Amino acid sequence: MATKILVTGGTGYIGSHTTVELQNAGYEVVIVDNLSNSNIKVLDGIEAITGIRPAFEEVDCTDMTALKAVFDKYPGIKAIINFAASKAVGESVQKPLLYYRNNLTTLINLLELMPQYGVEGFVFSSSCTVYGQPEVLPVTEDTPRQTATSPYGNTKKICEDIITDAVHADAPFKAILLRYFNPIGAHPSAKIGELPLGVPQNLIPFVTQTAAGIREQLSVFGNDYNTPDGSCIRDYINVVDLAKAHVVAVERMLTGKSLENVEVFNVGTGRGLSVLEIVDTFQKVTGVKLNYKIVGRREGDIEQVWADPTKANNVLGWKAEASVEDTLLSAWRWQESLAK
Ligand code: NAD
Ligand code: WQD
Repeated sequence: MATKILVTGGTGYIGSHTTVELQNAGYEVVIVDNLSNSNIKVLDGIEAITGIRPAFEEVDCTDMTALKAVFDKYPGIKAIINFAASKAVGESVQKPLLYYRNNLTTLINLLELMPQYGVEGFVFSSSCTVYGQPEVLPVTEDTPRQTATSPYGNTKKICEDIITDAVHADAPFKAILLRYFNPIGAHPSAKIGELPLGVPQNLIPFVTQTAAGIREQLSVFGNDYNTPDGSCIRDYINVVDLAKAHVVAVERMLTGKSLENVEVFNVGTGRGLSVLEIVDTFQKVTGVKLNYKIVGRREGDIEQVWADPTKANNVLGWKAEASVEDTLLSAWRWQESLAK
């Protein structure tokens, strides 16, 4: 019988790609999502790619009674991957309590249910935002976390601490915290991808929507940073590569390979790229000219950050494989598919 995995937020951007990779690896997936930031049609895309429609429950993870009913309906869940969270940095500044309630309550409910239902492993979607602007680059997992610059970022730090405290208090499960750098791109089939609501705040969806003529112009936020071309540097990680890290993390916990009860891994490529390099590469690989303009800095932006992924490479046995060219092309193909 296939091993059953609960994927919260599974119709979202990273959750849908992870569901595909889990199903490809032979796992049975149960998705729980309240569709607050995703569309039920994503299930069609997952089914078209894998030939399997995952079980789906429209449930809000902050609703303990409804969540418990999911565990009763699908007995034998072995691990949870918790993507369900609110993730817009700007909105979190405007509505901090919504972010604290949604992200923390979801986590606490899941952690409380795990021992009751014998769930053995927990993967948490953390973020490089916990490092702030590091003094030394690239960042390793030992790089100190800094005071969060937004309520969203703070929820990631607090959630990491809650998981660590719960596990150290002899909770009968293991946890892996994956600190994602900047996830981008889409499945190469162009059947699933990122679906931002409204005006995208992140770079790549803004780039693809500008290229598609949905947005008039891309604003490049600043060219006066202390970087080679003056624009900010990030570590852009292909979403399918990122999805595969979750499969490896689940396998690691369920096969007793974890070295500690809570493990932390950076999930990045180890390569920093500037905003202008992304713009150039996008134009090169797609042949589409981007209308962009250099404007002032965006408040709160980190100047530069990229991962040292050595621990994920050597200990987790995962490595980013996709080139940035293929990744940007996949983002563009996905954007094009939305118009069809
Ligand atoms: P997403 O918004 O596409 O996916 C999150 C999903 O969770 C959505 O489908 C949403 O409807 C669902 N959801 C939210 N609150 C819920 C609740 N209370 N109950 C049930 N479902 C709920 O976001 P994503 O980009 O796929 O991110 C997934 C996770 O990864 C999030 O925890 C996010 O904070 C984290 N993360 C994302 C990035 C990024 O840049 N995309 C970077 C680092 C970490
Ligand atoms: C990337 C670069 C912008 C848009 C955010 C969150 C972080 C994490 C990932 C979840 C920056 C520049 C952007 C635009 C631009 N999420 N940019 N024009 O800021 O690295 O991280 O998403 O955990 O917590 O803060 O990602 O995609 O917004 O920006 O020039 O229209 O692109 O200044 O340098 P960021 P991003």
